[in-house]
Parts: sequence; C-alpha cells; structure tokens
Amino acid sequence: MLDETAMRAELADHYDLTPSLSCAEELADVYAKMDRVISPPDWAIYAPYVKAILALKKQRNAVILAHNYMTPEIYHGIADVVGDSLQLAIKATEVEADVIVQCGVHFMAETSKILNPSKTVLIPDMDAGCSLAESITADGIAEMRAKYPGAPVVTYVNTTAEVKAASDICCTSSNAAQIVAAQDSDTVIMTPDQYLAQNVAKQVPNKRIVWWAGSCIVHEQYTAKDLRDYRAWNPGTRIIAHPECPPDVIAEADFSGSTSGIIDYVHRERPEKAMLVTECSMASNISDELPDVDFVGPCNMCPYMKKITLEKVLWSLHSMQGAVEVDPEIAARARVSVERMIDLSRRLVV
Ligand code: 13P
Ligand code: SF4
Repeated sequence: MLDETAMRAELADHYDLTPSLSCAEELADVYAKMDRVISPPDWAIYAPYVKAILALKKQRNAVILAHNYMTPEIYHGIADVVGDSLQLAIKATEVEADVIVQCGVHFMAETSKILNPSKTVLIPDMDAGCSLAESITADGIAEMRAKYPGAPVVTYVNTTAEVKAASDICCTSSNAAQIVAAQDSDTVIMTPDQYLAQNVAKQVPNKRIVWWAGSCIVHEQYTAKDLRDYRAWNPGTRIIAHPECPPDVIAEADFSGSTSGIIDYVHRERPEKAMLVTECSMASNISDELPDVDFVGPCNMCPYMKKITLEKVLWSLHSMQGAVEVDPEIAARARVSVERMIDLSRRLVV
C-alpha cells in the first residue's frame, strides 16, 4: 500500500507544488480544454502538478495512456492517449517510449505489460482494482469449462492475466457481440460480467450464452425505474448507457456502447440534453468540446478509477515505483487471448 505521507514529503522536497496563478496562466492552453468543468482556483492547484509531470514525462521517455474515466485534469492535462479499453490495448502494442504510465485500473496496466513486455508499465496506485476482475479466478474458468464442455470461453478484458490465460479469447464492451458471434460453437461461455453477457445474448440470439455472475459496482446500481423516472421528469433527455448495466436498463436507453462508443455517439448526435449512464468523469471530459450539449442526470463514481490522481502520477514518474509484472508463462498465454481479440476486431471492422 502506498505510504501517502512519505510520498508527499518526498515530492515536496523535489518540486514546487504550491498552488500557483502564474503556473496556471503558463498552462492556459491546457486549461482551455476543461475550463467549463474545473474552476480557476482548482486549476491553480493542479497546474504545478501538470507542469512537473509534463517535464518528467520527457525526462523518463514515458507516455501516459489514460482511460475515458480519468478526471479532466488527467484526461486533458497530462495524457498522451485517451480511450476505451480496446483502444488503450491497441495503443499499448504500438508504444515505442521506454515507460508507459497507465492511468486506469490494474487490469489495464497488466494488459499493456502483456502486449508490450519490454516496456516498464507503471500504475500510479496498485490498489486501483475492479469489481469484475476480482469476481473470478482461473479456477472459475475451469469450473465453467467443466460445466459446459467444449464451449469457448470469451473473457472480458476486465480480468487478471491468470484469467485471460485460462480463456480462449478476450473481448471488450466495444467488440463483445462480434467476438461472440464469430465463435464456432452454439454455446459460448462469457466471463465475468453477467450483464454484458445478457446484453450480448440479445444481440446474438442464435447463440446460447452462459455466464459467470460477476458485475460492475458502478453500473449495476442503475435501475430501469431510475431511467424512466428521470425521463418523465426531464422529457427529451437522450439516455446513453454502458453495456455493463443490467439489460432492463439498456432496454430503457436510447443507445448503448463502450466508453468511446458513448463519446462518439454524443459527438455525432449532439442531443440537447444527454444523460450518460456510466462513470461521472465521462460527461466532465467532453463538456468543453460539446458546449451545446447539456449533460444532465445522476452518475456514479468508480472508486478504483478515482484512486488515480495527479499527485500519484507524479510520484510514479518520480520514483519509478509501481511497475506491473506478469509471470512470463502466464503473460504468454494471456497474450494469445488478447491478441486473438485484437486480430478478430481488426478483421471484423474491415
Ligand atoms: P470500456 O472498454 O467501455 O472503456 O469500459 C471499461 C470499463 O471498465 C467500464 O466500466
Ligand atoms: Fe471495474 Fe466498473 Fe470500475 Fe470499470 S467502472 S473499472 S468495470 S468497477
């Protein structure tokens, strides 16, 4: 566990991190990407961290891959690449820099390490987990295989390397239905997200899909009644939900897609009012580029994603601590599952 007091003391010895109006002004072009969602006093607090991180990134020859759920000061302030899980995995294969700092959760950093093992992959907080990744082990995969002999195992990337290694192919929320449809079997095992599996089952009715009973603590909280009540109270709201939500929630929504699918949809459609049924930072990150869209309604925070802060990113790059390691034998098998997904996704898009 990160000793935050010691971390702060060491950072204070090396960097001037006091809130600074002049530093905020110096980075005004960066601030312009998020000035609708971050106040000037908050930017004066963040700017010294952003400046120090940008300088250290060069020194260490590092790139920052950030998930769409990162807070705006990370997403707009320091990231080199932003995206959904599939986009970040593909990008990880292309990184030439020496160091990857993964601003996201642990399974994402592990996926980068699996795909680009010669790089140092840092995660700013090792405790940034995921309820889905925690819901299943390789034994769970073996249990499903014993129950449904011969059925291929399609595993969500929100899992550990051991679970990926025990599976046949991975999927993400942006390609799950296509990956399942492409399996040469009437029965397909999907792990570990029961709701993603049930949503895919509706899109691929010719397959019998069986699933593991995991769920995302952020998306399982939404109910269809919440959405109906919200629509009745605020008519005309376009409701857009992530496929980790239960199927009755997806049925109430106007669109469902991966985090990047959601961003693309709002860009394309530009609804007057949009409710993003997903993690809270999504709306904040796209508010500035879509000033004509009013983001309304409740959202839920992912406590794991929110463990990643500017301060911890600075600490990673300063200390070079938090390197993710994967046992080479497990990594080799996990790589097969992830690369099969990437290859199949590329073929399905063409
Ligand atoms: P995406 O692949 O859609 O970015 O989802 C990742 C995730 O963890 C959503 O909860
Ligand atoms: Fe995991 Fe849900 Fe957080 Fe995504 S939002 S990282 S699925 S707990």
